[in-house]
Amino acid sequence: MSKNRKRSKRTRRWLLTRRAVLASGSAAWALTGFGFRMPTLAQEISVAAPTEFLPRVPVSFEVNGVMQDLELDPRTSLLDALRETIGLSGTKKGCDHGQCGTCTVHIDGRRVASCLTMAAQVADHKVITIEGLGDDDTIHPMQQAFIDHDALQCGYCTPGQIMAAVACVREGHTNSEAQIREYMSGNLCRCGAYPGIVAAIQDAAPKMEG
Ligand code: FES
Ligand code: FES
Repeated sequence: MSKNRKRSKRTRRWLLTRRAVLASGSAAWALTGFGFRMPTLAQEISVAAPTEFLPRVPVSFEVNGVMQDLELDPRTSLLDALRETIGLSGTKKGCDHGQCGTCTVHIDGRRVASCLTMAAQVADHKVITIEGLGDDDTIHPMQQAFIDHDALQCGYCTPGQIMAAVACVREGHTNSEAQIREYMSGNLCRCGAYPGIVAAIQDAAPKMEG
């Protein structure tokens, strides 16, 4: 029998034992009869504690020119703070593991994966999301170029692609198609809109510099 099968059988026995204990109210019977240890009270609490009882920490940072003073669970990612707490849902959640680039935002002008960044880490820093890229009346040249070059299909990856593309231009990594592809390789597009994305970046780069 494989190790996994053994383990799952053991787990089943544990669950059955626990149910029996709860039904009969006889913890000693399970403890001695099967040789399993019941979890301590502290262990039970650490598993079951509702998150609303966890301490909140004050965190302040600027998003798109507006200061945000928040009270957050210290484990909150910047991505969740932006989407769930502040209500800026333009930044998308893809993998939530730093692998797709969909959640790209700028912190002090540098591109970051907001799913891998704790909100508490950006205290006193400046965050720009896709909503803050253009100004009130005009969209950013990179946004216009994405439209002009049909650089999207479903559009889910697009906010992250545009934020990464703007950073790519500012970093000076647009000297060739190969270089653009290299420096945009952290942003995945499941629809395969890469030719349009590269064309959009080549189009927007001189307009951003000018
Ligand atoms: S959602 Fe952040 S990298 Fe995929
Ligand atoms: S446009 Fe659909 S994932 Fe990129």
